[in-house]
Amino acid sequence: MKPGDYQSHNDGEETRRQLAYIDRLTEYVSTLRDELGRNPRACVVTFGCQMNARDSEKLLGILITTGYDETDEESDADLILYNTCSVRDNANQRVYGRLGVLKGYKKTNPHLKVVLCGCMMQEEACVNKIRTSYSFVDLIFGTHNIFKFAELMCEMFENSGHPVTQVWNETDQIVEELPVRRKYSYKSGVNIMFGCNNFCTYCIVPYVRGRERSRAPEEILCEIRNLVDGGVIEVMLLGQNVNSYGTNLDEKMTFAGLLRQVEEIDGLKRIRFMTSHPKDLSDELIDVCAHSDKICRHIHLPVQTGSDRLLKAMNRNYTRDHYLALVDRIRTAMPDISITTDLIMGFPGETGADVEDTIDLIRRVGFDNAYTFEYSKRTGTPAASMDGQLSPEEMQAHFDTVLKVVQETARNAASKHTGEVCEALIETVSGHDDGMVTGRLSNNLLVHLPGDASMTGTIVPVRLDECKGFYFLGSRQ
Ligand code: SAH
Ligand code: SF4
Ligand code: F3S
Repeated sequence: MKPGDYQSHNDGEETRRQLAYIDRLTEYVSTLRDELGRNPRACVVTFGCQMNARDSEKLLGILITTGYDETDEESDADLILYNTCSVRDNANQRVYGRLGVLKGYKKTNPHLKVVLCGCMMQEEACVNKIRTSYSFVDLIFGTHNIFKFAELMCEMFENSGHPVTQVWNETDQIVEELPVRRKYSYKSGVNIMFGCNNFCTYCIVPYVRGRERSRAPEEILCEIRNLVDGGVIEVMLLGQNVNSYGTNLDEKMTFAGLLRQVEEIDGLKRIRFMTSHPKDLSDELIDVCAHSDKICRHIHLPVQTGSDRLLKAMNRNYTRDHYLALVDRIRTAMPDISITTDLIMGFPGETGADVEDTIDLIRRVGFDNAYTFEYSKRTGTPAASMDGQLSPEEMQAHFDTVLKVVQETARNAASKHTGEVCEALIETVSGHDDGMVTGRLSNNLLVHLPGDASMTGTIVPVRLDECKGFYFLGSRQ
């Protein structure tokens, strides 16, 4: 199947089927409640990106609707669900490590069910390993049939002790309107597209998430209006490459066009989006952002490397000059915008000269932050079989050199804001001191200030008194 072959459709009939399974699952959970003499408890653990976090809210929504209570303690749970990520090998290893512990819990709680889903489950080798080495896992499903969670849970209960595995290679379905349990009352992620067509040579996402499919604008707008009616004031529009939004829709629509419509929703105060691919970021988008009152002054624009040779080998489809010119255009339109990035260090064939190119680009842009990763070899991706794989020591050396520069640049960028008065959306009460709250600025910086739980979900003016490196201490104005 070629990129773009999909015509995604919202399947209302499938929604009705799944709602019927939710009713059936409620009966199984009720029987379990009778056996336990209390409500069963579910612990959902999310690995990976914001898309997985949003998927977990959907999974938890179904569990709570069918009668589970939520718990953060795996040792207390009657159902443990890991929503996995496979973007880097250390994410996979963390899951295997934790599975080892769950085996012990199963011995003390015979009712405990262990469920695995997410990107790792799209890799055949992972599923085979789990089926042979962790045979106690009760249910495995993938990213494409996540909407069948209630149905698969019913199958698991009906299968009395036999594990259930169902992983699809692809789907063209987008199933909406199933229950969701949001983590935050005032902000929410909203998927605007699924999958990825870019096939960067190091990346597993296109293989585990499938081809790019955009949701219809009316469905996105309807979801956001409902969220706002429910108290949400900030949305994060989510996609692997939001700048290519709409290319596979019957009626063409650009991401900038979608943003214009989201902006008009009354009651919505802040709009964020992620992730932007530099090759597709249009002047129309820069213009919409610059003229918006709601779109936050932050853009996450992963560059990956500053070396043209490696950008080509990575199949990123832009050059460092293109990236630098793009940053200039963004900054000219919005001088106060914060620009953050992702970097991969140790890609096959990376030399000291490539590292110098990356450092030079970091300094020129003066990133507000950069998430720096060591290259991780993903089986099945083109980069995995490229010549010139670096030794762990070389990789570490390149990573450490760049990390120092990134930290220095980020500290400089943050400290420039000292003394400013900015609006902060108060997100949480501090875990260490209940007289302090944490707020997020439009430019994504965090500020800690005196306050209490009643401020959560409100936007307040805050003076940035003292820069602590990557966050501020502030005071309400
Ligand atoms: N779609 C986004 C990125 C999603 S994955 C984009 O293209 O910008 C998030 C980040 O993980 C990537 O930007 C990249 O920096 C990192 N990443 C992806 N695959 C990786 C790998 N094999 N090794 C190390 N880092 C990787
Ligand atoms: Fe991976 Fe590239 Fe797609 Fe991002 S754009 S998800 S890095 S393939
Ligand atoms: Fe990981 Fe899958 Fe997201 S691989 S980064 S959870 S799309």
